[in-house]
Amino acid sequence: MANLKLSKLAEGLTSRSISKLSEKVDKRNEQGEKTFNFTLGDFAPQHFPIPSELEDEIIAAYKGKHTNYPYVGGMEELRIAIAKHIKFHGQFDYQPDEIIVSSGARPLIYLLFKAIVDPGEKIIYTVPSWNNQYFIYLANATPLIITTKPENNFLITAEELKPHIKEAVLININTPLNPSGTILEQNTLKDILDLIVAENEIRIQNQQKPLYVFFDIIYWFLIYNDNEYINPISLNPKIKDYVVFIDGISKCFAATGVRVGWAFGPKPIIETMRSMLAHLGAWAPKPEQIGTAKYLQKQQTVTNFLDKFKKDIFERLNIFYDTIQNLKRAGYKVDAIEPQGAIYLSIKLDIIGTKTKDNKTLATVEDILEYLLDEAKMALVPFYFFGMEEESPWFRLSVGTCSIDDAKDAAGFITKAIESLKNIPTH
Ligand SMILES: Cc1ncc(COP(=O)(O)O)c(C=O)c1O
Repeated sequence: MANLKLSKLAEGLTSRSISKLSEKVDKRNEQGEKTFNFTLGDFAPQHFPIPSELEDEIIAAYKGKHTNYPYVGGMEELRIAIAKHIKFHGQFDYQPDEIIVSSGARPLIYLLFKAIVDPGEKIIYTVPSWNNQYFIYLANATPLIITTKPENNFLITAEELKPHIKEAVLININTPLNPSGTILEQNTLKDILDLIVAENEIRIQNQQKPLYVFFDIIYWFLIYNDNEYINPISLNPKIKDYVVFIDGISKCFAATGVRVGWAFGPKPIIETMRSMLAHLGAWAPKPEQIGTAKYLQKQQTVTNFLDKFKKDIFERLNIFYDTIQNLKRAGYKVDAIEPQGAIYLSIKLDIIGTKTKDNKTLATVEDILEYLLDEAKMALVPFYFFGMEEESPWFRLSVGTCSIDDAKDAAGFITKAIESLKNIPTH
């Protein structure tokens, strides 16, 4: 077929697709080579089904024939339920008309950028992080990238933000962070918010656009050990005028395919996003909205689900964390950051330049990925997919698709794979 001309936007679209890695795993599994897919930020429903009460309520809504257009921006009963849910679990004080619902979180991120950022204006985000570059591209905005450090758990500090604070109109903060599985500590978050509020006091006086915050809390219930979720507004209440939170049921209720996401923030921004959404039509399906509204109202049921869900994810994360720590203690140049949140573990495999038992040198991260597929029977995502430099020795391991037995088997395979490298550097 002739190479038909499309838009410049279309021509410039790129993606480092995790799904391509995932396809490799599927092919191996089809050929009978059992390979673990730890690449996707998703859940295997056989191990992590959605809450059964949520499923029942959605089915009941279909049976009740709630199949016509829902109200644009979310049905009132759902927005009321969300307001109560975020108040009860997180002390967020928002009215139903400060909340917008869509088919998952993604359309809301797109609309938030469109509502705030003019072409060419700067958006600050950190790397490693999830997908910011694509949303920024679609918004025709200019990225302002801050590369974070492993010693800071790949999270931004106020010192790193300070030199750039005057340049941008939007900053993305995501905690717990995809891909690192780490969370911003209270004092650091407070310092960052104080900096933004101080900057905005100057901008408002000068009648300039403020620095808005896109606060991605899609993993906010998935926090482990003694860590607690901190409501950012409690740290500096003045931030409320500038922050839009993005949330939904995708991750915390293992409901990535159900497609119910929401945002809450200042009414003028939410209303603008609602007007845009009316034309996109990216609404959550009506039965899913009704089901989610009914489910979220059952606070004890929700808490019980989350307690068990968190425990199950944390157990898997720890199997891998302990495995990598054992290898580290044995002297191998590997490391992992203690799991704090989300469904991810950051693993460092400092093995470029080592030789396999067949004398093949692992010269690049691509070689390491192939080696892991062959010998450790697993696929991980290198941090360069999340914006880090190509040589970064860090990888994301996602546990949403595995059983405990899978995790134990895979931990055994990775141990053997590292131990069988020939000239592996040691600490
Ligand atoms: C940090 C973060 N925000 C938002 C999303 C998007 O969520 P949804 O599937 O509801 O669009 C994801 C999905 O991977 C994510 O990791």
